[in-house]
Amino acid sequence: MIYQVYPRSYADANGDGVGDIAGIRAQLGHLRDLGVDAIWMSPWYPSPMADAGYDVADFRDIDPAFGTLTEAEALIEEAHAAGIRMIVDIVPNHISSEHPWFKAALADEKAKERDYFWFRPGRGENGDEMPTDWRGEFGGTTWTRTGDGSWYLHLFTPEQPDLNWDHPDVRAEFESILRFWFDRGVDGIRIDSAALLLKDPQLPEVLEDNPHPFHDLDGVHEVYRAWRRVADSYGGNRALIGEVWMPEVERFANYLRPDELHAAFNFDFLGCAWDPRLMRECVDRTLDAHKAVGAPATWVLSNHDVTRHVTRYGREDTTFSFDNNLDGTPVDLELGTRRARAAALLSLSLPGATYIYQGEELGLWENENIPPEQFQDPMWGRRGHSRDGCRVPLPWTGDEAPFGFTTATPWLPQPAEWKDRTVQAQTGDPNSMLELYRSAIALRRTESFADFSWLELGRDVLAFCRGQDFACVVNMSGAPIALPANQSVLLASGPLDGDRLPPDTAVWLRMTS
Ligand code: GLC
Repeated sequence: MIYQVYPRSYADANGDGVGDIAGIRAQLGHLRDLGVDAIWMSPWYPSPMADAGYDVADFRDIDPAFGTLTEAEALIEEAHAAGIRMIVDIVPNHISSEHPWFKAALADEKAKERDYFWFRPGRGENGDEMPTDWRGEFGGTTWTRTGDGSWYLHLFTPEQPDLNWDHPDVRAEFESILRFWFDRGVDGIRIDSAALLLKDPQLPEVLEDNPHPFHDLDGVHEVYRAWRRVADSYGGNRALIGEVWMPEVERFANYLRPDELHAAFNFDFLGCAWDPRLMRECVDRTLDAHKAVGAPATWVLSNHDVTRHVTRYGREDTTFSFDNNLDGTPVDLELGTRRARAAALLSLSLPGATYIYQGEELGLWENENIPPEQFQDPMWGRRGHSRDGCRVPLPWTGDEAPFGFTTATPWLPQPAEWKDRTVQAQTGDPNSMLELYRSAIALRRTESFADFSWLELGRDVLAFCRGQDFACVVNMSGAPIALPANQSVLLASGPLDGDRLPPDTAVWLRMTS
């Protein structure tokens, strides 16, 4: 089980309202008690923070807001001592406009760094029209004009110029960055926007029947084969995990071929509705695709980019997609929480690796009441949705904000109702989300979790076995259901109704026949 730490919002030790490495080190015990196998650390490098650190100015250092490289090295060591592996986040598609390469490229048209990016003349008589009409990943345009009249490409914000992956220096630089972190003991790399790196140099428009000019170009696989060689040169225990948003599951699986990435996030599962038929299809699709390439599946419910699933599952439309903005639609948090508890048991017993986004283990919901003037996410203003609602600092202790996160004002406001969701309030309460996660993760460690097979318990029930003696049953119907015979309950996501399983509730069973 891999736990995503979003460093700005985990714990603040220096009292400036923003989380930091010292805070993570001070609260490492929480992750040890939870039983995490690895931490994925969202970017902590020096950055102007135009996109919360996904605009990196120097991949070989730490932003002063988070601490120092020495502290990062100490955290890696302490995590290892606690039996926790460390995964860092590398952002290869683009860098910060404050990175020395981009500054050099802007300063001199003849600089070699110019070719590390996508500088192009504009269209139209005066060159004042953008080279293409490509739409950005956050919405909006993808080109910005510079002082000398040329334009540069940025699939995200203008502060995140895209790198030219056809250039050997770019490739060499990133391989060297991988080594830099592997040399510091890091066990894995999360690869940001992994499918976007290559662009069609002819810059064609995006047309329905033509190959996409920047999504999933075949050449990208050569990049990851080279990265795999770097990872393997460290003895075979360093992992590469891709952020690959891809509707076609076969194309997705191509990234997981034996000489490429070890794993990739399962956004199909994350975006899937709370619906037994769709969920079952998604699980089948996932397992089939991974089997074909011999890679482990992943199960992801939330991350720093998407609406927290307690909120999603409490809405009428329980899907997630950036193109379907559901902000402000009615939410039943009690229902969402019940389903999130069931989803925890589901995602922790399917075959493969489970990812947990910080706060998920506390049952946090999306803060939909942040005043827009406090939004920091560049997606706000481009897509009319802010990802800040899922990035709110964690509540640790006490009855009032900032709930032990900081001694100052947190960088984003926490809901007052989180007083019941602090680590302190939930610890020792057998009905809390936190204790459910702790029990499930502890049990998962002792289970052998053999072969997966579906168990047929009715159309609206998701049930499966792992080997002969373990089963997970999730009741997605509107009424209580009978549990199978010859079993005892190992763990339940909520109270049972006599010996029946209520709606939106999951159990882990020991099968004895
Ligand atoms: C990824 C990150 C997201 C970031 C974007 C640009 O999708 O998860 O937070 O904004 O890439 O780097």
